[in-house]
Amino acid sequence: MAENTSWMDGTAEDFRPPSDLRPDIPHPARIYNYFLGGKDHFPADRAAAEQVLAFAPATPSAARANRAFLQRAVRYVAGEGITQFLDIGTGIPTAGNTHEVAQQVDPAVKVVYIDNDPIVLAHARALMAGPGHGATTVLQADLRDPKSILTDPRVREAIDLDQPVALMLVAVLHFVDDELDPHGIVRTLLDALAPGSFLILSHATGDFDPPEHSVAGKAAYQKAAAQVSPRPYAEVLRFFEGVDLVEPGLVAPPKWRPEDPEAAEAWTPGYGAVARKS
Ligand SMILES: C[S@@+](CC[C@H](N)C(=O)[O-])C[C@H]1O[C@@H](n2cnc3c(N)ncnc32)[C@H](O)[C@@H]1O
Repeated sequence: MAENTSWMDGTAEDFRPPSDLRPDIPHPARIYNYFLGGKDHFPADRAAAEQVLAFAPATPSAARANRAFLQRAVRYVAGEGITQFLDIGTGIPTAGNTHEVAQQVDPAVKVVYIDNDPIVLAHARALMAGPGHGATTVLQADLRDPKSILTDPRVREAIDLDQPVALMLVAVLHFVDDELDPHGIVRTLLDALAPGSFLILSHATGDFDPPEHSVAGKAAYQKAAAQVSPRPYAEVLRFFEGVDLVEPGLVAPPKWRPEDPEAAEAWTPGYGAVARKS
């Protein structure tokens, strides 16, 4: 699915959504889609996004920089010979999705997409319906219950956990509150993976912002389906305990192996890294 197109005929509010889409509540996937210039959002999502833009007008370029990090990291990991990807917190499909990037490196790559937002599932399933998408599976599941992901028969059928996997947690962990032990969730997932597996992770931070931004950011997501918890560098680094960061380590996403020196300087309130399990 190309950027700026919708699986529906028209914008999101033109179609009759299943009741669990809750168009009245802002959803992270749809807010992110708005920042990326997509068309799949409702008035409540746009209102929350505009609240963020009022104090952080560079957010759309930061969202694009995160997406470009995802694509460079997927290309790198596929180039290291990884043929199985578990992409949790997939987002609404846009240009350059995980399977498209990885299958350019190796058409045999298998991708399991997981998101807890039904709109993501509807889009992703529509996208995968045609030929030419290789081995892709799309599932509705929740990162906050990692054991249910690891034991899901559809995941086990698509992915051989005895072989290396690329676990992707890109711009999703900041939607998991501290009380739910996000570090323990990542540990549970990593423990289940074979040696030689990779972790691709990015995360929002308030480290580069004036303190009032983080208050305003939290307020924008207050009525949303998930609250946002930006974390400082040390807390993001802790997600990589027990795995080996590849060069250049944990950096602002545009600075991770940039292909365009100008793009590397984009303001991004986040960190990203790739690590290998030995
Ligand atoms: C900001 S988007 C990131 C999309 C994509 N990973 C990227 O970086 O381009 C965050 C996604 O995580 C999903 N998400 C949030 N909380 C989740 C949870 N607990 N379990 C699964 N997915 C979740 C949202 O629905 C949304 O699609």
